[in-house]
Amino acid sequence: MAVLLPGGAGFIGSHTAVELLNAGKEIIIIDNFSNSKPEVLESIKKITGKDFKFYEMDYLDEEKLENVFEENNIEAVLNFAGFKAVGESVKKPIEYYKNNISGALVLLETMKKHNVKKFIFSSSATVYGEPEKVPITEEFKTGGTTNPYGTTKLFIEQILKDIYASDNSWDICILRYFNPVGAHESGLIGEEPQGIPNNLMPYIVRVANGELKELSVFGNDYNTPDGTGVRDYIHVVDLAKGHVKALEKLDREQKGLYIYNLGTGKGYSVLDMVKAFEKATGKKVPYKIAPRREGDIATCYAEPKKAKEELGWQAEKTLEDMCKDSWNYISRKGENDDKL
Ligand code: UD1
Repeated sequence: MAVLLPGGAGFIGSHTAVELLNAGKEIIIIDNFSNSKPEVLESIKKITGKDFKFYEMDYLDEEKLENVFEENNIEAVLNFAGFKAVGESVKKPIEYYKNNISGALVLLETMKKHNVKKFIFSSSATVYGEPEKVPITEEFKTGGTTNPYGTTKLFIEQILKDIYASDNSWDICILRYFNPVGAHESGLIGEEPQGIPNNLMPYIVRVANGELKELSVFGNDYNTPDGTGVRDYIHVVDLAKGHVKALEKLDREQKGLYIYNLGTGKGYSVLDMVKAFEKATGKKVPYKIAPRREGDIATCYAEPKKAKEELGWQAEKTLEDMCKDSWNYISRKGENDDKL
């Protein structure tokens, strides 16, 4: 029995692939490399010493997906194949709704046909919109997303709730990620956004290595301790382990639809992140204060208690680990690129 990972060569998918293989699971990855590279597959094998099946294909391709389900004994699907760039989603809503929502529907329809009913969905804290208070629990109301990317997460959550309501033999887990950062400690896999990064940590590492001149801190007049935005940064390896725990829960417990926040429960400001990065790596991160970024909120961090109680999972890595591992990945990569 194998676990299928659409988008398994991407940032979160590849780290989850490693943790699933380490936990003794058989995996199958499908990916079209739209935002990842074939070398990632070799890196996953190198880290784990294990092999797996791979199909280069678009997960929207119904015929090819049908073949994957025919050829293999699939027990569960963890979907990492979504587009995730907020700014791009505003410019390309059709592409985002098609890839994320139609892709999920094609997957779910094929699963249903083959009577595979275990599904883990990569959702996001973005579904909470602007929360009334923090920390955010899973019971908070959702909605008020400010961009198509966030809305695809919200819609897919609703689709999953409707599927479960129509047939409670489905076994579904929605994982709401907070702010994933870091990289595998081997430095072999990590985050590689194309072009100029939008997210904070990838931007910081590119300022530290001289690729970008300085960080723009988007606003220092928020109602937070130092005026800059506060977020719940979580190491991607901790996040990946959360998926293994979620799968174990679906294997162990009665069928259901479960929702968990995956965060640390701690909030750090933009300036906290700059300081922590400089301390952990010894690199300078020049910055300037810039206007607020549209769509940003002041503070967002998780109440992660439910995942601890029900999944037996909690984040273990520190902010220092997040900074060191992000830097290690980029600086190693730079060295390797120079050798080419
Ligand atoms: C963003 C998305 C969220 C998505 C998540 C994925 C928005 C509004 N939200 O979250 O939907 O799930 O990425 O990781 O885009 N910052 C700077 N300068 C920069 C970049 C960021 O000051 O160059 C600040 C931001 O204002 C924010 C914090 O750093 O306060 C974190 O930003 P970012 O990493 O983009 O994540 P989110 O905005 O929280």
